[in-house]
Amino acid sequence: MVKLLDLQKITMAHGDEYKAAVNRVMESGWFLQGKENQQFEADYARYIGSEHCVAVANGLDALKLILRGYMELGIFHEGDEIIVPANTYIATILSITDNHLTPVLVEPTWEHLEIDIDRIEEAITPKTKGIMTVHLYGRIAYNDKLKALCEKYHLKLMEDCAQSHGCGFNGQWSMVNGQCSTFIKTGALGDAAAHSFYPGKNMGAFGDAGAVTTNDTELATVIRALANYGSQKKYVFKYQGINSRMSEVDAAVLGVKLKYLDEDNKKRQQLAAYYYAHISNPLITLPKRIADEENVYHQFPIFCERRDELQAFLAEHGIQTLIHYPIPPHQQECYREWNNRSYPITEKIHQQELSIPMNQVITEEEAQEVVRWVNAFK
Ligand SMILES: Cc1ncc(COP(=O)(O)O)c(C=O)c1O
Repeated sequence: MVKLLDLQKITMAHGDEYKAAVNRVMESGWFLQGKENQQFEADYARYIGSEHCVAVANGLDALKLILRGYMELGIFHEGDEIIVPANTYIATILSITDNHLTPVLVEPTWEHLEIDIDRIEEAITPKTKGIMTVHLYGRIAYNDKLKALCEKYHLKLMEDCAQSHGCGFNGQWSMVNGQCSTFIKTGALGDAAAHSFYPGKNMGAFGDAGAVTTNDTELATVIRALANYGSQKKYVFKYQGINSRMSEVDAAVLGVKLKYLDEDNKKRQQLAAYYYAHISNPLITLPKRIADEENVYHQFPIFCERRDELQAFLAEHGIQTLIHYPIPPHQQECYREWNNRSYPITEKIHQQELSIPMNQVITEEEAQEVVRWVNAFK
C-alpha cells in the first residue's frame, strides 16, 4: 500500500533527534512558556524573515488571535468585512465568524486553485478591513497586485500559512533580515500570518501547535497576552483572553523539524516533478505547474470528473488518497445561511479534487506505482 502520508516513517527518519529533544524537556521539568518556546520562536521568525513569532496552541487559534488582536487594537470592529477565498479549509472562515467579522468569499481560479486576485477589487466595500489569503495545497496565493490592492484600500493583509511552510514569493528586490533578496517567504508577505503545525503538515508537531508571525510589535504583544488568558503580568488580566500556548515538547520537536524543512520540501518538489512528467491520463487534469520556490506541495491535487470512481480504483490497487475537501465551506451545515449561494469554480474543485500520495519519504518504486495506477484508470 502506498500511503498518502506515512507519519511513522517521516518521524522515525530523525527518531533519535526527537527522542533527545523530548528527553531534554522531560529532564528539565519545565513544560510551558520556557526556553524551548523562546528558541523555537526566535528560529522560526528568522526562518520566515519576520520580526516576531508567537507560538500558540494550533493554527485555528493563530488565525483567530490575529483577528482578535486587530479588534483589541481598534483596527477591526464587529461586522467589518474580511475577504477570503471560497475554497479554503473551514478553519480560515471559522476564525472570521468567531470574531463576529463578516467573511466575503471570493472565487479561486481553476488554473491556480488560489483566490482569484483579479476578482478581489469588485468585492471591496467601505466595510472591508482585511484580506485573508490562503496558500492552499502549498501553492503561493500572493502577487504584487494583491499587495497594491491592500495599499490602495488600506487593508490588512493576513496570510493563512497552514499549508505553506517554506513556500515563498519570488518578487521584487527587497531587504530580508538585512540581506537583499527577491525571495520572501509566506508568513512575511503581509501584515500578519497564521501557521499550523498539525502533525500532517509539511512541518508537523507531535500534536496540535501553531504560530503567528508578524513585523507588527504592537500586534505581537497583544496576541502574546491574548493567548495567555489576556495577561502580560502574572495574575493581572488586561484582556479577556484564552489559553493557547505551545507545549515545550512541541517547541523542541519543531526545532528539529525546522532543520529539515527545506530538504523535505525539495523531496516533495522532486516527487511533484516526477508526477508532472509521468501522469498522462487524459481523464485527469493536473494543476498548473508553478515555480518550485512558490509551491511546497503540501498536497498534490489531481482533478477528474469521475473522481469518486478514480478514488475507489486507486484504493483497490493499494494507492491511498484523500479529498481536499469534499464539501465547500458555503455548503456546510454550519454556514446554512450560505447554502443557496453559487461559487461554480469552488464547487468544481470540490467535486473533482483528489490528493495523491505526497510526502518526503515516498520511494521511487512507490512513486512509480502511483503513476502506474493513475494512468491505468479508464
Ligand atoms: C488552510 C488551513 N487553515 C487553518 C488550519 C487550522 O490549523 P489547525 O488544524 O492547526 O488548527 C488548517 C489545518 O488544519 C488549514 O489547512
